[in-house]
This record gives sequence, C-alpha cells and structure tokens, in this order.
Amino acid sequence: MAQNSSKTSVGIGLIGSGFMGRCHANAFTAVAGLFDLPMTPVKQVLADHSQEAANAGARALGFAQATADWEALIADKAVDIVAITAPNALHEPMALAAIAAGKTVYCEKPLSTTAASALTMTKAAEEAGVVTCVGFNFLRNPMLRLAREIIQAGEIGEITGFRGRHAENYMSDPDTPHSFRTDPEGGGALADIGSHIISMARFLIGPIVEVSADCQTIFADRPVRAGSTQRRPVVVDDVTHALVRFDSGVLGSLEANWAATGRTMDLSFEVTGTRGAVAFSQERMNELHLHTGQGGRAGYRRIEAGPDHEPYGRFCPAAGHHLGFNDLKIIEVADLLMAHATGGACSPDFREAWRVQQTVEAMQASSQERRWLSVDKAS
Ligand SMILES: NC(=O)c1ccc[n+]([C@@H]2O[C@H](COP(=O)([O-])OP(=O)(O)OC[C@H]3O[C@@H](n4cnc5c(N)ncnc54)[C@H](O)[C@@H]3O)[C@@H](O)[C@H]2O)c1
Repeated sequence: MAQNSSKTSVGIGLIGSGFMGRCHANAFTAVAGLFDLPMTPVKQVLADHSQEAANAGARALGFAQATADWEALIADKAVDIVAITAPNALHEPMALAAIAAGKTVYCEKPLSTTAASALTMTKAAEEAGVVTCVGFNFLRNPMLRLAREIIQAGEIGEITGFRGRHAENYMSDPDTPHSFRTDPEGGGALADIGSHIISMARFLIGPIVEVSADCQTIFADRPVRAGSTQRRPVVVDDVTHALVRFDSGVLGSLEANWAATGRTMDLSFEVTGTRGAVAFSQERMNELHLHTGQGGRAGYRRIEAGPDHEPYGRFCPAAGHHLGFNDLKIIEVADLLMAHATGGACSPDFREAWRVQQTVEAMQASSQERRWLSVDKAS
C-alpha cells in the first residue's frame, strides 16, 4: 500500500451527516488534540442527499464545502480519505468509486447488503492497494483489548465457551417506522447489530465456521414512514438466536435483538475457560469482569478502565473517569490516520468485514433451511 507520510495534512470527505456522520466528523475534529499523528485531518467536503442537507451538515460539522453529489466529493483532489456513513445499500457504489480514485476508504458497518457485494468491495480494494477500515468501533475499547490479552495469555485456561449478545430496544415499538434498517435486502437486527457481536466474537475467539440460527420477525408490519398510517410488512428479523462453532472447536451462542425492551446497549459477552472467565457489557463499557479465583476465592472481580489500558491515558490521566462511545470512534480514526500515513493495515478492514457478513448470511440461510450450515470459507 502506498505511503502518504510526506504530507502534513489529510483531506477528509464525509458522506452522510446523520447519527454516524456526526460521530465521524467529531472524531476527525478531536483526534489531533489527543493522539500524536503524522498528519492533521482537514474537513474538506461533506455530501448529503440534498444540497440543503449538505449545507446544514457542513456548517454544523465544520466542513469547507458541501455537495449533493457524492461522486464529486470522491473526485475532489482535496479529499484523501472518503468516510461513508450513508445507508447500507449505498456503501458498495460509493466505496468502489473511492477505490477507483485511489482514496483511503473508511466505511460504516455492515460493509454492504450481501456477502457477495462485500467481497467485490474487498477484492477491488486489495487490487488497488488502498487502505480500508470498517466502523466496528466497539473493538477499539481498551477493555476489549484487555479481554483478548487475558484470553490469549491463557489466564482463564483453555476456552470452553462463548456467549454473546447485542440487545437494544430501538425497534421495540411496533409503530417505529421502516428505514434502511428494515430493507428486505441487507436489513434486520442480525445485519444491523448482530454484525457487531459477530465481529467481537471473531476478535476474541477467532473465526466462526458453523452456525445454526433462528431469525424471527416479532412485528408483522410497521408504518411506511414516520407519521404515516399506511403500514408495510416487515420481512427482516427483529431477533436472531444462533448456536455457533468456532474454528478452535469452541461452542458458543449469539443473540441479535433490536426489540429488547429494557436494554439500551447490551453488546455483551462472557467467555468461559477451564480456570476462569471474563465478562463485559457495553452498557458498562469501562469495566471488565474477571474471574480467576479458586474454591472460596472464586467469583468475578471488576477491573475499571484507567491509564494502564492504552489509549485511555490519551484521554485522561486518572482512572475511573471513563471513556464514552464517541471516544471509541476517535481511537478508530487515529488508527485509520496512522494506516493512511504509513500504508499499513487498519483492522477491521474490508476483508474482515466481509467475513462478518458471510457469517450473517450463513445464519440467515441456516434459519431458512432449519439446519446447521458451514460459513463459506471460499474467497
Ligand atoms: N458503528 C456504529 O456504531 C454505527 C451506529 C449507527 C449506524 N451505523 C451505520 O452507519 C450508517 C448510517 O447510519 P446512521 O444511523 O448514521 O443513519 P442516518 O439515517 O442517521 O444517516 C444517514 C445519512 O446518509 C445520508 N444520505 C442518504 N442518502 C444519501 C445519498 N444518496 N448521498 C449522500 N448522503 C446520503 C442521509 O441524508 C443521512 O445524513 C449505516 O451503515 C449504519 O449501519 C454504525
């Protein structure tokens, strides 16, 4: 991959200014004050679905220019990194155009609407030699890195089980309208948030090779748009439960659920080993629970995030003051900028996100066929 380290600034083109667009923009703003970077990001162009929306987004988020034409953003010579935060079905055409223009591509999850599309994007990026990064930001949490260190160092013995869940309540009201999240192609709880717990499972334990899943639609229909009395059937899952077998032979279970009343951000796991266990929930993202004691000393103890868990110390020199969701995006953007400068890898890249999408698709197929299926390993 090409090195870009001779430049002192890097031009950012951001597509979309919704929930994630704001999060990306704020991360590009904050990162230089927190990390020692070889280059400073400059917010050059913001694109949205209309000129009016782009103008408003650029003004609010501090971009020099605004456009309703994302292709013009990609073609702009001032743009070095294209950040894609548009709905999922637009990721492929936007990413392929950015790759063809030789730009670094920072794309939100899920990478695309199908595994085949995600693979097309992966191959195009690898052939062009451009840096890619996908927004599985929860993996940037230093508590996650600590959990992986503990597992890989054998501190909880041989791994015997994984239980993972991503449960939120944002679709628990049957009157919440359709959006790109319920698109028949590529939508559903499993693609939207199940992709996060799959990426986490892969990060901690390794590849998932077999799945047996049940994808369920709880609410038969939803309003076609906010405020409408017209309703349209829902054809995607509201909740998926899956048994999974990892490459190591470890058996696990995963749940993706966007209708989980009472839960706001239970992206959580428990990893069990022969001598201990680790447990985490994003609802308490500054804590990792570790059990290693024996006999009368058995039981979980809480490890609280602090400067010993890099890069926490870049945000705050004192333990217990806590990182937040947006800080994970800043860490992700710091990793992206370093990869852009050096031409190095930025994990999770398109290839890893394609593997996640393959796992999503294997679960959907398993549910339809009502049997265990292998996650296709072919590339
Ligand atoms: N990593 C995470 O934690 C996380 C969280 C939420 C969403 N996401 C992902 O981010 C992406 C966007 O989700 P969101 O919640 O920000 O959605 P959103 O609806 O809030 O924002 C989408 C933005 O894209 C814009 N857009 C739509 N069509 C466009 C077009 N043709 N050209 C340019 N802009 C266009 C919309 O106007 C809007 O500004 C999705 O892929 C989603 O899965 C990731």
